[in-house]
Amino acid sequence: MTTEITPLIAGNWKMNGTSASLAEIARLAELMAQGEAPRCTVVICPPATLLAQLAGQASAAGIVSGGQDCHTAANGAHTGDISAAMLADAGAQYVIVGHSERRTNHGETDALIQQKASAALSAGLVPIICVGETEAERDAGRAIDVVTTQLSGSVPSGFASVVIAYEPVWAIGTGRTPLASDIAEMHNAIRSHLVARHGVVGSGVRILYGGSMKPSNARDILRIENVNGGLVGGASLLANDFYTIISAV
Ligand code: 13P
Repeated sequence: MTTEITPLIAGNWKMNGTSASLAEIARLAELMAQGEAPRCTVVICPPATLLAQLAGQASAAGIVSGGQDCHTAANGAHTGDISAAMLADAGAQYVIVGHSERRTNHGETDALIQQKASAALSAGLVPIICVGETEAERDAGRAIDVVTTQLSGSVPSGFASVVIAYEPVWAIGTGRTPLASDIAEMHNAIRSHLVARHGVVGSGVRILYGGSMKPSNARDILRIENVNGGLVGGASLLANDFYTIISAV
């Protein structure tokens, strides 16, 4: 892990959680208060229905809140959608954009994701922009090509702060993770791309790994060069597991 960058561990609850799940935040706050101060920024991205409540409860414990998606517009006739300004108003500081589940299930393109990231920045949120190859693309030797193309298309220029999450699609929710050498190769390629395109700002961007990160593998993944934290799905739903990952930093 690059030492001058403050790492970030983000939990993506996806479409999981009702008000009863806020007990996990209370438990996480308790664990964080008992242990050493975390050496990372801790973010939870709950479903939008829980965001305001969670943000209120979590901020006292030093836990930051985020949304899971936003619209490109600030407001308007977009039934069912949520704008970045609304997420900020509900207490969010971050928002995930371009998650592979949205790329796949909602046909989101790099161009749309770039607009969402720009909308997030305009609302004062830090976008967590997700990229990652499918298994077929990796098998075909195209992983780095695919990811750098996604970066070119979805990362806006002139940002003050963005986060990149590398999530190989085939590792999400499967219990499978890439070899450490493959993660290192990809994160180094992402860093080189960011520096080449965004200069010195690119060298400070946090690059998270996501995909079956759990208590048993977090330590090994987080020590890889240019891995500046993690985007955690399933293992973020239980306070104990998520806390173990936070403590692995
Ligand atoms: P899992 O940790 O459940 O594999 O999910 C990863 C992910 O998609 C986080 O955004």
